Amino acid sequence: MDSLLITGGNRLKGSITVNGSKNAALPIMAACILTEGETVLKGVPQLEDIRHLSALLEKLGVNVSRDEKGNLRLKVEDEMNCHAEYELVRKMRASVCVMGPLLAKRRRAQVSLPGGCNIGDRPVDLHIQGFQCLGAESDLVGGDIYLKAKKLKGAEMFLGGPFGSTVLGTANVLMAATLAEGVTVIESAACEPEVIDLANYLNACGARIIGQGTPRITVEGVKELHGCEHTVIPDRIEAGTFMMAAAITNGDVLINNCRLDHLMAVVDRLRAIGVNVERKGDAVQVSSSRRLEPVSVTTQPYPGFPTDLQAQIMALLALADGNSIITEKIFPDRFVHVAELNRMGARLRKEGPTVIVEGVKNLVGAPVMASDLRASAALVVAALVAKGKTKISRVYHIDRGYERIEQRLAAIGAEIQRVPE
Ligand code: EPU
Repeated sequence: MDSLLITGGNRLKGSITVNGSKNAALPIMAACILTEGETVLKGVPQLEDIRHLSALLEKLGVNVSRDEKGNLRLKVEDEMNCHAEYELVRKMRASVCVMGPLLAKRRRAQVSLPGGCNIGDRPVDLHIQGFQCLGAESDLVGGDIYLKAKKLKGAEMFLGGPFGSTVLGTANVLMAATLAEGVTVIESAACEPEVIDLANYLNACGARIIGQGTPRITVEGVKELHGCEHTVIPDRIEAGTFMMAAAITNGDVLINNCRLDHLMAVVDRLRAIGVNVERKGDAVQVSSSRRLEPVSVTTQPYPGFPTDLQAQIMALLALADGNSIITEKIFPDRFVHVAELNRMGARLRKEGPTVIVEGVKNLVGAPVMASDLRASAALVVAALVAKGKTKISRVYHIDRGYERIEQRLAAIGAEIQRVPE
C-alpha cells in the first residue's frame, strides 16, 4: 500500500485540468447494459472505482475496453449472467447501479447488498421501493437482493427519504423506467448534474426523458435503446477539491474544464471566506492572499453544498480567523477526517452531525491515515500548508477518486510524492 509524503508550505501556482466525473461515469457505464450496439464514452477518468465497475460489467457480459484515444468502449455481448457478487460489490458500493439496468433489460437481477462504509449506513431501500412501483418483486436472501419482473410498467412514485433525494436511487429507477411500458414520473428525484448527465446519455441512446435536473423526472418508456457517443461532464468534486487546495496555500490557480454553474454553493462559501473565484471561459481562476474568514457550511442535496466537499472545506476552515460551524445533512456520520485533522493541530469538536471548527494559526505535519475518499482529499489539502512533513497512508482511498493526484499537484508547485510502504 502506497503513502503520500507531502511537505507543506508551497503556494500552488499555474494551471490544472479537471478530469471527467467519476460519479457521472459510473451509472452511465452501468446503463450500457440497457443498450444494443456500442457506447463510446469520452472523458472517463482512470480510477480504481472505474476499474472495479469495468470488472463487474465484464462478469455481466459487457465487453469493456479503452481505445487508443483513451475512450471507454462498452458493448453487451452476453446477457446470461445477472449476478453481481459480494466480492465486487464490497469493493465499490456504486456497483448497486447495475440493479436497474439488469432488471429492465434481463428481467432479473441478483445483487449483493452493500454493507455500510466509512461514511455511514448506505441503505438501498429507496432503490427497491422504486423498482417495486414499476412492478418488480424483490427478496433478500443470503445478503443478496433478488429482483424480477415479467415486465415493468410505468408508474408515479415519490423517491424522497429521511435525508432528501437519492442520487444513485434516482439513477437506478430512471434507468429501469427507460424500458418500462408507459410513463413513469419520479417525484423528489435527485437534481445532481450527474443525474442530468445520465439522462442526457440515455436520451442520446433513444430514451424519452424530460425534467432531469428538477425534482420531477418524467420517462416515457421505449422498446429498445441503441449505443451512442457521449462525453462525461467535468468532475465538480475534483474541481472543488482543487479550489480548496489553491485557497489554503494562498495560491493562484487556473482550474481548466471546470463547470462553475455546478459549483455555485461552493463558490458562495469560498467567496464568504474571502477567496477570489473568477470565471475565465471554461476555466476558473482561484486565488487567495489573506487570512480566511470563518463561515457556516451545511451540506445539502444539489444545488446545496455537496457532502463530497465537506471534509475539504473543513481543512480550509481549520485555518480561518475565528470559529466556523459545519453541519452534515446527508451522511450525519461522515466525519472520519476530524480526528486525523486534529492530529495535524486543527481544533475540531464534533457534536452530533455538526463540527465546530476553531480556527488555528498553523497546521503541523504528522503521520495520518486515509480511511475514506473525500477524507483523504481533506488530508492532502491540509498537508499542502502544514508545517513540515505529512505522511498519508492507505492512499488507495484517494486513488478511487483522484487520478495521479501527486503528479498533478506537483505540476502546480506542491512538494508531494508517492512512496511505496
Ligand atoms: N438513502 C436512503 N435510502 C436509499 C438511498 C439513500 O435513506 O435507498 C440516504 C443515504 O443514506 C443518505 C442520503 O439518502 O443519507 C443520500 O444518499 P444518496 O443515495 O444520494 O448517495 P449515493 O447515491 O449512494 C452518491 C455519490 C456519493 C455522494 C452521494 C451524495 C456516487 C457513486 N456516489 O452516493 O459520492 O456522497 O451521492 O451526494 O455517485 C464520493 O464520491 O465520495 C461519494 C461518496
